[in-house]
Order: sequence, then C-alpha cells, then structure tokens
Amino acid sequence: MTAPGPGAHLLVAGGAGFIGSCFVRDVLGRRDGTRVTVLDKLTYAGNRANLGEVEADAGMAARFAFVRGDIADPAAVAPLAAAADAVVNFAAESHVDRSILEPAAFLRTGVDGVHVLLEALRVETDRARRGERAAPPRLLQVSTDEVYGSIDEGRAVESDPLAPRSPYAAAKAAGELLVRAYHVTYGLDVVVTRGSNTYGPFHHPEKLIPLFVTNALDDLPLPLYGDGLQRRDWLHVADHAGAIAHVLAHGAAGEAYNVPGSAELTNRDLVERLLALLDKPWSLVRSVADRPGHDRRYAMDGRRLAELGWANRVGFDEGLAQTVAWYRDHESWWRAARGGDWDAYYARQYAARLATSAAADPTR
Ligand code: NAD
Ligand code: DAU
Repeated sequence: MTAPGPGAHLLVAGGAGFIGSCFVRDVLGRRDGTRVTVLDKLTYAGNRANLGEVEADAGMAARFAFVRGDIADPAAVAPLAAAADAVVNFAAESHVDRSILEPAAFLRTGVDGVHVLLEALRVETDRARRGERAAPPRLLQVSTDEVYGSIDEGRAVESDPLAPRSPYAAAKAAGELLVRAYHVTYGLDVVVTRGSNTYGPFHHPEKLIPLFVTNALDDLPLPLYGDGLQRRDWLHVADHAGAIAHVLAHGAAGEAYNVPGSAELTNRDLVERLLALLDKPWSLVRSVADRPGHDRRYAMDGRRLAELGWANRVGFDEGLAQTVAWYRDHESWWRAARGGDWDAYYARQYAARLATSAAADPTR
C-alpha cells in the first residue's frame, strides 16, 4: 500500500466546510503539484466562499475542481473515486445540538454516506488488484474524540473502547467501525483521525467559540449550558488540517490516530478569555438549561501521532486572538453564514432556554 505523496489527486469530501476547506487551502498552497477535487453537498454548513481563496488564485485553481453532490449518492461518488489516488472524508453533519434535535441526517451522511464511499473504494481496490489502476486508493476518515464518550479522568488512547453518547458521536463511531471493517474484510487501505475540539477562521457560527464571539459583537446574550464547567481541549484548525495531511501521508494502514489540542479549558475559562479579547462584559453571559447527555470532558493521549512525527504549531493564546480578530474583520462572512435555517434553528435551540435563563455567576 502506497500512501499518496506530492502530485497525487485527492478527493476531499466535505471540503467546503470549516476544517475541510482549511485542508484544501493548505494542501493546494504547498504548490507541489497535488490536485484536489472537492465533493460537497453544500448543506447549511457548507460554503463555497470558504474556498474563495483557492478559486481566486490561478495556480491553485488550475489544480482544483468542485463538484456539488452527496457522499450517499453512489452515482456521484463512483467516477470521482475512480479518478482519485486518495479520499479524505470530512463530510458529516457536525453539530451535536442539531443531532439531538434531528438525528436522521447524521445517520444518512455518517453511516450510509461512509458506506457508499467504502463500496466505491472496494471497486477501485479490486481494479488495482487486477492491474487496471496503478495503486489502490487510500481513505482517510476524519473522526472525532467524541467517539470515546466523556473522559472523567486521564486521557483516551486509540485502543480504548468507543462509547459515544450523542447521536452525532454515535454516527461518527458507526462510520469509523465500518471503515475498520472494510480494512479487515476487504483489505482497503484506510486510516482514521480522531480530532479534538477545533477552532479558527471559517467556523460556522452555531459552535461555541464563533457563536459567543459573534453574539458578543452584537451585544446579544451568550447562552452557557449548565454550570459551564465542561472541559474541552482546543485545537487550531491549521493544526487539525496539518495533522490529517500528515496521517494521510505517513499513517499505517488500518490505524487510528488521536489528534489532541493544545489547551484544556473549562467553557467558563474560555468565555472569560473571549470576553477579554472582545472587551465585552461578563454580564452578557446567561446560564441556560444544559445540553441533554452533555459530555463533561474530552481528553486524548497524543503519543501515537507524536511518534509519527507530528506536533501542533499554533499556541492557544495566539490562535484565539487571531480567531477573534478574524471574526471582527469578516462580518459579512458570518452574517451570510447565519442564513438558511438560522433563525428557526436559533429559536428552537435557544428561545426557551434564554427565556428561563439566569445571570451567570462570574465567580464559579
Ligand atoms: P462542517 O459542518 O463545517 O462541514 C461539513 C461539510 O460537509 C460541509 O461543507 C457540508 O456541506 C458537507 N456535507 C455534509 N453532508 C454531506 C454529504 N452527505 N455529502 C457531501 N458533503 C456533505 O464540519 P467541520 O467542523 O469542518 O468538521 C469536518 C469533519 O471533522 C466532520 O467529519 C467532523 O465530524 C470532524 N470533526 C470536527 C471537529 C470540530 O471541532 N469541528 C473535531 C473533530 C472532528
Ligand atoms: O470534540 C470534537 C467535537 O467538537 C466535534 O466532533 C464536533 O463536530 C464539534 O462540533 C465539537 O463538539 P462540541 O459539542 O464539543 O462543540 P460545541 O462548540 O457545540 O460546544 C463546545 C462546548 O460548549 C460544549 O461543552 C457545549 C458548550 N456550549 C455550546 C454551545 C453551542 C454552550 O455552553 N453553549 C452553546 O450555545
């Protein structure tokens, strides 16, 4: 099995989203001859503007193609898989709160969609065995630390059992398990990454950091779930995308790799830092009803990825300050991202919570 190197043709599913678009910008920005085809359904979270920098640069645009389509559609996937040296699958419904409101789309993309990709790659692997293509394609499945469930103490290692606790996390775990099964049963060349909570530019405003930054810029309330003492380990998007490229090139077939962040913080501590960067008062923070089944803490051991030669580069203080500045400077981007079903979603997720909220105690 040969991992794809410079000059390869990558099929990037979900490449118009937050992390996928960073991956595409960075891979094409290396200018090493790599070609990229993005397959993206452009759901409410997908945004062609996230790839604007690529499409506006003649050198990058010449090695880039965009196809609007669904990974759960075999007719869309088959010809793209036939033309690819490797597939990197970012495509997913990615917001835990939406998975609690309406799980079906999470299963369709996260389970059926992954299955369709795997079937197309099985065909291509068989073609390579018959000498009808040079090498079998590699699949990198982008997964998440949420597959381990809530980690009260210590850090999850890759061999730990999966124990997902939300419909989102369960769909991600199911997708991963299918990927592993196709490696074991059919000999597909696959690698899996399990990334930590990611932050940075182009993050959809439904997620904690961009929601609180954009609401604070508008002096709107910041809805903090429960006691706000849940812990997350924050990973800059450039480090997450870089780690995925590193595992794609160097990872051992059949293995999963944790991609931890650089800063474990409670949500309260994080919100304090955001408010300081924005020069906004704590009085904006409202204590609201908790997320059902809310995972208390995510934490992963990163030794396997470090042994593969990867280290994060972006310090949290620097990354967070740059991210806040990016949202200040890109108001038109985040206002447009609050299009589609945003108002209906926001009302469904927050109206009752905010109506029954309390001022958040600043001292806890
Ligand atoms: P995102 O919601 O910003 O982007 C998802 C992209 O997938 C969008 O462009 C969307 O249009 C596309 N998509 C959705 N369904 C599709 C389908 N059926 N066919 C084709 N395209 C489809 O998500 P993100 O935050 O960039 O996350 C990307 C991946 O990384 C996801 O698999 C997610 O589970 C995983 N992940 C995210 C984080 C994080 O903190 N954001 C951390 C770890 C892992
Ligand atoms: O850990 C990786 C995961 O990180 C990814 O797999 C997911 O795709 C990604 O969305 C993210 O999931 P979280 O649920 O951790 O992220 P979110 O930004 O939704 O929430 C972060 C924390 O902030 C979490 O403890 C819930 C809390 N929160 C979130 C929102 C949106 C609030 O207190 N209020 C909010 O309004």
